[in-house]
Amino acid sequence: MSSSSLQGKRVVLVVTGGIAAYKTCEVVRRLRDHGVEVRIAMTTAATRFVAPLTFAALSGQPVVTSLFEGGSPEEIPHVRWAEWADMLCVAPATADFVAKMAHGVADDFASTLSLANAAPTLVAPAMEDDMYRHPAVQRNIATLTGDGVAIVGPATGSLASGRTGPGRMSEPDEIVAAALRVLRHGVIAADLEGQHVVITAGPTYEALDPVRGFTNRSSGRMGFELAREARWRGARVTLVAGPTSLVPPAGVRYQPVRSAGEMHEAVRSVAADAEVAIMCAAVCDFTPAEPADAKLKKGARDRIDIPMVRTADILASLGTSAERPFLVGFAAESSGLREHAVEKMECKNCDMIVGNLIGGADVGMGGHENEVVILDRQGGEQQVGRSSKADVATRIWNAIARFREQASR
Ligand code: C5P
Repeated sequence: MSSSSLQGKRVVLVVTGGIAAYKTCEVVRRLRDHGVEVRIAMTTAATRFVAPLTFAALSGQPVVTSLFEGGSPEEIPHVRWAEWADMLCVAPATADFVAKMAHGVADDFASTLSLANAAPTLVAPAMEDDMYRHPAVQRNIATLTGDGVAIVGPATGSLASGRTGPGRMSEPDEIVAAALRVLRHGVIAADLEGQHVVITAGPTYEALDPVRGFTNRSSGRMGFELAREARWRGARVTLVAGPTSLVPPAGVRYQPVRSAGEMHEAVRSVAADAEVAIMCAAVCDFTPAEPADAKLKKGARDRIDIPMVRTADILASLGTSAERPFLVGFAAESSGLREHAVEKMECKNCDMIVGNLIGGADVGMGGHENEVVILDRQGGEQQVGRSSKADVATRIWNAIARFREQASR
């Protein structure tokens, strides 16, 4: 997928010495697929894992590994590179490099460049689990977050030592998604740090018998992007999703469910301590009253009537709960978007509602793009023109942050 809006954007990618450096090759390739120009600086240790030539070939630019190589001293390359960059990305970032960044140490090209850089910065830590858990590393990461640096990962899984735990560098997909997010919208605010966010996504499936059932059209993509953005902003995220083929974003607590009943149960059990709940799922309104245990035979009949009963409205039930979180609903409408969305916000007692018109082939359900209007209960209204669902997710979280900040004043 390419995106014209990122054509010509410039990323300086710092590669430090970890085995995950091989995954950074893929990051370079994918950024370039999006039209992004990439220059690469490597620490000496990084060059032991991947040859500079590999990165030079992938980026189409010379790779710099030392303060004193190439060019004349007057060029001051670390300053020029910092001026050139729309964004700095460090992947993998070793414990050592994270410490240098947190403390402003500048003793080689990569760290000097990082200190000279004023552009938004994204760091993908990669180290062994015991190092990652060390209070010194946690302090340094917190310092970077406080400095406005976005942190992606690390993921939990198998490590170079053969152990399993937190410390794996995020997968290239996740790093690229975060990089595109920063390039499009700037620094990622840590405004959800320490908060619990519950999101529903995808369709539900209501079984009629063991092989047949009813469902709604929904890929789940909008909810997954909302979960990803919330995680980047520092939230603890629970994503309750009906059947989808999507891979859950890294670092979120994923609770797959099938039916509306299961989704309701799952939300009930996790929403009590949530600060924000976004109900993005396309929940079936009706479910077969008496699902059969065995496959129904069609027999000789040429028509079938299936008694259906109403499912519980998950959003509306959260709206009436005593300790209600900040509540966001969705309204997919084929006409009269604004009126229906406002009506839904009122009758389900939400703070905000995101309305989208269903129709067009690629917009809304199933597609990669969406076009929405964000309405809030203070009468605020924001149109978001056709954009990727990742972009729409960022705009929704920005709107939530603005509203909550105003309400707390
Ligand atoms: O009433 P309608 O289905 O159009 O409302 C849409 C909103 O309500 C969405 O936020 C959806 O996730 C939520 N909803 C729900 N439980 C239902 C039906 C809808 O949470 N049973």
